[in-house]
Amino acid sequence: MKVLYTAGEIARKVSALGEEITQQYQGHELFIVGILKGGFMFMSDLVRSIKLPTKIEFARLSSYGNADSPMGDVSIVDDIHTTITGRHVLIVDDIMDTGHSLLAFKKHLEENRPASVRICTMIDKTVRRGASISPDYYGFRITDGFVVGYGLDFAEDYRTLPELYVLEPDETGGTPK
Ligand code: IMP
Ligand code: MG
Repeated sequence: MKVLYTAGEIARKVSALGEEITQQYQGHELFIVGILKGGFMFMSDLVRSIKLPTKIEFARLSSYGNADSPMGDVSIVDDIHTTITGRHVLIVDDIMDTGHSLLAFKKHLEENRPASVRICTMIDKTVRRGASISPDYYGFRITDGFVVGYGLDFAEDYRTLPELYVLEPDETGGTPK
């Protein structure tokens, strides 16, 4: 595997994102929902660079649910436990790939009539985007490739690495998710 972005490059990007978000939500409280597990490291760095009153929550999604459910093949393994009506919500996750999981979760949150819902992902991976959605904020945009480190895993490995890496095809068995 090879390094895609170093810890220093990630830190600079995260602080730029934090400044942009701080500017755009000036005068408001932000309700930040981190998506587990992949978003945990980005979430913990990003919240420290957002200079606003914030509250945080976490949710856990799975893309191996029941295709007949209202959320398609995406299921919420653990939902947030706080009322978001009238609040400005920012969803923070590691990567947007097809976009299906974050689109489904965003729609789910919108049922409770928040003031706004936006999405921030560390990586915007565009080639397989099926859902009509894109992140409102992202750190790095790539077209393709399987990325690990900085929260992202391959079969639960590599999550705790401080850099972002791209796996070679032979390291993913040729058919990454
Ligand atoms: P979606 O396809 O946008 O719904 O993404 C679903 C999930 O797939 C993401 O939250 C990640 O957990 C995982 N995923 C997609 N691409 C990658 C990758 O390149 N590396 C690690 N996980 C990925
Ligand atoms: Mg994920």
